[in-house]
Amino acid sequence: MKIAELDTPVLLVDADAFERNVARMAELCANAGVACRPHAKAHKSPQVARLQMEAGAVGMCCAKLGEAEVMAAAGIEDLHITTPVVGASKIARLLEAARQSHVSVVVDDADNVSDLAAGAQTAGLRLDVLVEVDVGQGRCGVPPGPRAAELAGLIDGHPWLHFRGLQAYHGLIQMKGDVAERRAAAAEALEKAELSARLVREAGLEIEVLTGGGTGTSAIDAAAGGLTELQPGSYIFMDTNYSAIGWEGAPAPPFENALTVLAGVLSRPASDRAILDSGMKAISGDGGAPRTVEHEEAEFRFAGDEHGQLSFPGEAPLQVGDKVTLLPSHCDTTVNLHDRFIVTRGDEVEDVWDIAARGRSQ
Ligand SMILES: Cc1ncc(COP(=O)(O)O)c(C=O)c1O
Repeated sequence: MKIAELDTPVLLVDADAFERNVARMAELCANAGVACRPHAKAHKSPQVARLQMEAGAVGMCCAKLGEAEVMAAAGIEDLHITTPVVGASKIARLLEAARQSHVSVVVDDADNVSDLAAGAQTAGLRLDVLVEVDVGQGRCGVPPGPRAAELAGLIDGHPWLHFRGLQAYHGLIQMKGDVAERRAAAAEALEKAELSARLVREAGLEIEVLTGGGTGTSAIDAAAGGLTELQPGSYIFMDTNYSAIGWEGAPAPPFENALTVLAGVLSRPASDRAILDSGMKAISGDGGAPRTVEHEEAEFRFAGDEHGQLSFPGEAPLQVGDKVTLLPSHCDTTVNLHDRFIVTRGDEVEDVWDIAARGRSQ
């Protein structure tokens, strides 16, 4: 089947660009001697996870327990949940997932440590736990300093828990446009992580894993060498926001746009305007409006949940029934709107990958 024959709106993955992205990140990590644990929040698809594992990833990150459950059920080995899992019912589910796959989880709270220990004991399963350190994002995590060592000691004191290391992720610096500023911010974050790590070691505990980083700081983190493991997500697909930032040593981003939404023209209410069948339920707007690949001059505006409006400076070169390709501004939130990726090579459809963990926000 040809791409042009697909019904719209539909989410497309360009297999050539995707494969190059997977290989580039795998190579970047391998050359630096850093483990690659890509973040599944970007794709929510066990089929994509399997391809990343085949390229050398040591395991996958999951933002939510629901994502980890889907990955574990699909046989993806070694999952790390990058958000605390809180409450008895979720902890019971976590331990159920840990029967199917190796699962580790972050904590930043002493009561949560006790709850995890009680759950692990009841389940008869030893659980790997990492302490999250807030290295600047102001989200979850203990502040840099002695608190990480205190929590690590608590974890170590529970026979059903195993202290594995620290997570130090700073999302707010990933898209800093200027590379030098991004490098300086990453160095500052790493300093905070290393301070906490030093105090943990001085308390007599081993840090097997210091995990963090994203697509934007991947080359910087790999070169700096402080993190033992990187957790990049967006690099496999990219989006217009990520492509627009400055990239180390290269005029172009090292990762290519591989994700698009094919949209159809529903109406042409004025000579300079076309209405598309793709609105907020087909492509996300949290990162701004998408770009139209074939018509750089066109301005996209969301015209509701199901409609998009394309305005042209002159006559719109489109007719009802035509198709246009939209580049998302934010890949993760766009993926979460769809049930499957249609994988393409050239102008042909090659495969279909289920987005099995789409919507699994619990
Ligand atoms: C904890 C954590 N690690 C890694 C990532 C991946 O970041 P990126 O998609 O920028 O590569 C995210 C993204 O939000 C994250 O929350």
